[in-house]
Amino acid sequence: MSQPWSPDSWRALPIQQQPIYPDAAHLARVEQSLASYPPLVFAGEARELRRQFAEVTEGRAFLLQGGDCAESFAEFSAAKIRDTFKVLLQMAIVMTFAAGCPVVKVGRMAGQFAKPRSSNDETLGQVTLPAYRGDIVNGIGFDPVSRVPDPERLLQAYHQSTASLNLLRAFAQGGFADLHQVHKWNLDFIANSALANKYHQLADRIDETLAFMRACGLDSAPQLRETSFFTAHEALLLNYEQAFVRQDSLTGDHYDCSAHMLWIGDRTRQLDGAHVEFLRGVHNPIGVKVGPSMQTDELICLIDTLNPSNDPGRLNLIVRMGAGKVGEHLPRLIRSVEQEGRKVLWSSDPMHGNTIKASSGYKTRDFAQILDEVKQFFQVHQAEGSYAGGIHIEMTGQNVTECIGGARPITEDGLSDRYHTHCDPRLNADQSLELAFLIAQTLKDVRR
Ligand code: PEP
Ligand code: CO
Repeated sequence: MSQPWSPDSWRALPIQQQPIYPDAAHLARVEQSLASYPPLVFAGEARELRRQFAEVTEGRAFLLQGGDCAESFAEFSAAKIRDTFKVLLQMAIVMTFAAGCPVVKVGRMAGQFAKPRSSNDETLGQVTLPAYRGDIVNGIGFDPVSRVPDPERLLQAYHQSTASLNLLRAFAQGGFADLHQVHKWNLDFIANSALANKYHQLADRIDETLAFMRACGLDSAPQLRETSFFTAHEALLLNYEQAFVRQDSLTGDHYDCSAHMLWIGDRTRQLDGAHVEFLRGVHNPIGVKVGPSMQTDELICLIDTLNPSNDPGRLNLIVRMGAGKVGEHLPRLIRSVEQEGRKVLWSSDPMHGNTIKASSGYKTRDFAQILDEVKQFFQVHQAEGSYAGGIHIEMTGQNVTECIGGARPITEDGLSDRYHTHCDPRLNADQSLELAFLIAQTLKDVRR
């Protein structure tokens, strides 16, 4: 028998990675305001994403999740949201068309602000200050005032998320995602790259297909004019997440209406901890990051706590081992999940196990390692007879130089040109497209 759950039952349990707010009464006032505001999504949408996740788990679709490591207050504009959305659309269409596989699109967007940190403080020279935990908590500036956790930031994150989601909904449904516009999703700055040419060739074939369908009188399906797009973020700040729990009037179930999907990070997935407790009770589709330290029996216990009814649409295991470790750890985890008959959506996060420090000091990732982890992820699944169902990446539509390598290679010396991330290094549009073509080819082979 599981213990009773309530939206605040997590408060009695040990919790990791939380800021210490100097003014508890201020925090409580903000939590109350948030709870009185309209939610960002509604339960029916989260249920629809669960239905689509089940399709992926059963091998009939593929999950594409991508966006910033951390959204920021400073870089908040329509152009930035549009460009990330464009690259996700491009990636999805490459996979859908080249592999003949429906793609479920989920943005790390409209709420991805809070960051777990490896250390509680940061030291520069003689000065030690509390670590930056994302714009929803404190400021990135290395000075004592910026680093004080401020509850007002929770409100700003909420407002920014609502505006972002509003625009994403408009893009998805207002004509921008119309397949007839497929050439226009390409970004100007990659116009002359090899990847852009490859993309335009594919877009030409889509145009031809659409012309053919029109000639046959088959082009009236709404799916050609609009798309569905979902949002997700790490459910790290539980006082924020709790404020968005609503009871669905149709089913009586609780949903965390701050996003369609929430995930638990690799640092906060303790079985007896607050994060697992909170997420086990909300009915959204949820994710759990799975790093190399995950034990086999621990994983089965986590699955049973988070998905006791073994619903194929509920749980996404986001594997983030690193290219050097995935071959060692993933087979044992897949085997025990298969043996126990547990239904999960497996996806690959090839970013977080492949972070390195360049000699110049920049935190970066080698694109070759990222591709390598993805390839191994597919190979291991093929060998085990399970389905590699998705990809989870940190990327942006901005022309950044944060990860080294790629078809238009970024060198270690080039990192400083346009290194803008507030947290981890992201793939740029070129690198994201290159990855999409690789996955499309692999998916095509697997599905054949
Ligand atoms: C992240 O997704 O940004 C992150 C911190 O991941 P992980 O929990 O896998 O380290
Ligand atoms: Co990250």
